[in-house]
Amino acid sequence: MSTDSPLRLAIFASGRGSNAMAIIRAARSGRLSRVEPVLVVCDKSEAPVVGRARAEGVEAREIVPRNFSSKEAYEGAILEILKERSIDAVALAGYMRLVGPVLIEAFSDRIMNIHPSLLPSFPGLHAQRQAIDYGVRVTGVTVHFVDLLMDHGPVILQKSVPVFPEDTEETLSQRLLPIEHEAYIESLDALSRGRLRIEGRRVLWQQD
Ligand code: GRF
Repeated sequence: MSTDSPLRLAIFASGRGSNAMAIIRAARSGRLSRVEPVLVVCDKSEAPVVGRARAEGVEAREIVPRNFSSKEAYEGAILEILKERSIDAVALAGYMRLVGPVLIEAFSDRIMNIHPSLLPSFPGLHAQRQAIDYGVRVTGVTVHFVDLLMDHGPVILQKSVPVFPEDTEETLSQRLLPIEHEAYIESLDALSRGRLRIEGRRVLWQQD
């Protein structure tokens, strides 16, 4: 990837797609001026994100794992499409599946994920409910690079939000969601400007 041309981005999602939409709209509005969302890949049939992406003029493909003989074959099919579209980087945005070696090796250090907790606290499903059940007073969002383990790779950016005694999973999720969008946009902007350098588990932000 040249830092002169826009970062050609594929977004992987499984459901509602609010993060995908935030990224696409930020690119359209010029807020993410160096990111071009080229493709949405969805692993579920009839997920809302597919129609929402198409309505924004972004190609969206349903690629459903059960139509393939193995995870390798499934990811191999995705990889073909990513290569055809000259994709530079991948943003996981509510993609409810572990990424395997086929994609990780092809896009080493070029796959990001957003998670609705301050990792390494509360990985996996229902992070907001886990935070409430544990009784923490502060939680947040984490954008990180993706490795083979769940919610595990080097941390790019974290933002915190308070947890109130009356919070439910629903109210806390609503408070976190706009922060997720903001954190993802900031992180992708930095990636697209070549500002992120990974050293072991640490991600260093370079100044322009
Ligand atoms: C978000 O909370 C994201 O952090 C998590 O799954 C949810 C997806 O929401 N991984 P959306 O599909 O982006 O609206």
